[in-house]
Amino acid sequence: MMVGVVRYTLICMVSLCIAMVSVSGQAPCTLSNVPLQQNFDIDLFLGKWYEIEWVSPAYMDAGELWINYYHVYSADEYGVVTGYYSGKDSNTAQCFLGGLAVLKSTDHPAKMLLYNEQKRKVMYDYWIVSTDYTSYAIAYGCLNRAPDSNDTCATARSWLWGRSRSLPESVKVNARTIFESLCMNLTLLYATGWRGDECIPDVSGFAERVNTDRVSFLFPLLTVVFVLSRSFCC
Ligand SMILES: *[C@@H]1O[C@H](CO)[C@@H](O)[C@H](O)[C@H]1NC(C)=O
Ligand SMILES: *[C@@H]1O[C@H](CO)[C@@H](O)[C@H](O)[C@H]1NC(C)=O
Repeated sequence: MMVGVVRYTLICMVSLCIAMVSVSGQAPCTLSNVPLQQNFDIDLFLGKWYEIEWVSPAYMDAGELWINYYHVYSADEYGVVTGYYSGKDSNTAQCFLGGLAVLKSTDHPAKMLLYNEQKRKVMYDYWIVSTDYTSYAIAYGCLNRAPDSNDTCATARSWLWGRSRSLPESVKVNARTIFESLCMNLTLLYATGWRGDECIPDVSGFAERVNTDRVSFLFPLLTVVFVLSRSFCC
């Protein structure tokens, strides 16, 4: 009798344990479990970020990879954040430039929505997982959600950004651990090449153009921008 109870209890504990392990194995891969930088301050995040490494959703041929790739973010007098990206085609060394409009999500300060005026013409989730603002930033981007579950990302990317062109190995190792916890496939991790000068595009009047493009494309979101603009609140 006693042996039976003990055995039954053991079986229960083991199955509970298995259940807990399988739940905790899945948990970080849902969007609601993506870790986010606490007290994220977009003003400290503005400026230039050099791409150090990133995890692609699909295999990339070496010839498809961009070099000298970076982002720059700035805020206008109303606190509306825009940005641009620039880099070079690794084969032709041709410079390219694209505009980014940034919306801050009401959900969490570290959750942003990016609108790329050159490509896709969609807003996608761009979240800051961890940053010290002065040396590195780890970002998670979800291009589209799984059709059957809005808490699962179907096409995800992750980035390690630096305030300079290179980062210490320890920072990269830490970033890869975080990428893994985000269920990114590390065989699809690519280091960004930095060779020679970076492209310094002429971006005068660019922020206005990006904003106008974004506004005309996403008119309903205009209200969100107004609500979030600091100039209207204080
Ligand atoms: C998913 O959809 C449900 C119901 O529509 C909603 O309550 C929830 O906030 C959504 N979750 C995310 C992460 O968007
Ligand atoms: C990771 O990516 C590689 C290369 O595309 C692929 O062969 C492998 O199956 C992927 N692993 C997982 C767990 O998806």
